[in-house]
Amino acid sequence: MSLTDLIKKNRSCRRFDNSRRITTDEFSLIINNATKVASAANLQNLRYIISNTKRMNDEIFRCLNWAGYLSDWPGPEPEERPSGYIIMLVRSSIEKYAHFDAGIAAQTITLSATELGLGGCLIASINKPLLGNILDLSEDEYSILLCIALGKPIEHIKIEPVIDNQIQYWRDEANTHHVPKRDIEEVIIGEHLDQD
Ligand SMILES: Cc1cc2nc3c(=O)[nH]c(=O)nc-3n(C[C@H](O)[C@H](O)[C@H](O)COP(=O)(O)O)c2cc1C
Repeated sequence: MSLTDLIKKNRSCRRFDNSRRITTDEFSLIINNATKVASAANLQNLRYIISNTKRMNDEIFRCLNWAGYLSDWPGPEPEERPSGYIIMLVRSSIEKYAHFDAGIAAQTITLSATELGLGGCLIASINKPLLGNILDLSEDEYSILLCIALGKPIEHIKIEPVIDNQIQYWRDEANTHHVPKRDIEEVIIGEHLDQD
């Protein structure tokens, strides 16, 4: 798949086939890719906890908030829940550029998952004290940045134009998820180009 196609396919997916587990090799490939990306001052202070067990997945799930714009949807039913998670941590919360590193690594993780035929969703709305307890994390050593839910996608997702600044995603009667994206004319606000 070309990078352009991969980027289009790499949508936030929140409904999965829970019977399809994430293998150790898949986690290794995904995290290996995340270790190769740019890092401010090359500090590489991101750390990961991975899970594919039912027991730990259930514990992680109860710390997460799903799809804020779908106010009447409490999140996926048990059989549509993610079959794996990657929790992204940073070693020192005072590190100035950690959030840039986190974004680059997170996108690398979801692109890698998409290339494997999986899907994912970045989740920042987390009950961090609860998750920290579940994972037995020492607060002075690690801060939780993101949780990346992974699984085999069963959601149909369509990119839509942004009309009248309406950026909220929605679901239709057939359960297709629609996600509006701004177009190039709106996001390039200056051009200084030689003629081709
Ligand atoms: C930093 C960040 C935090 C996010 N946190 C959540 C979250 O807590 N819960 C959730 O359901 N989705 C979360 N998302 C997913 C966004 O809602 C999603 O990226 C957006 O709706 C656009 O959809 P797309 O990823 O398919 O382009 C997050 C995305 C990012 C980049």
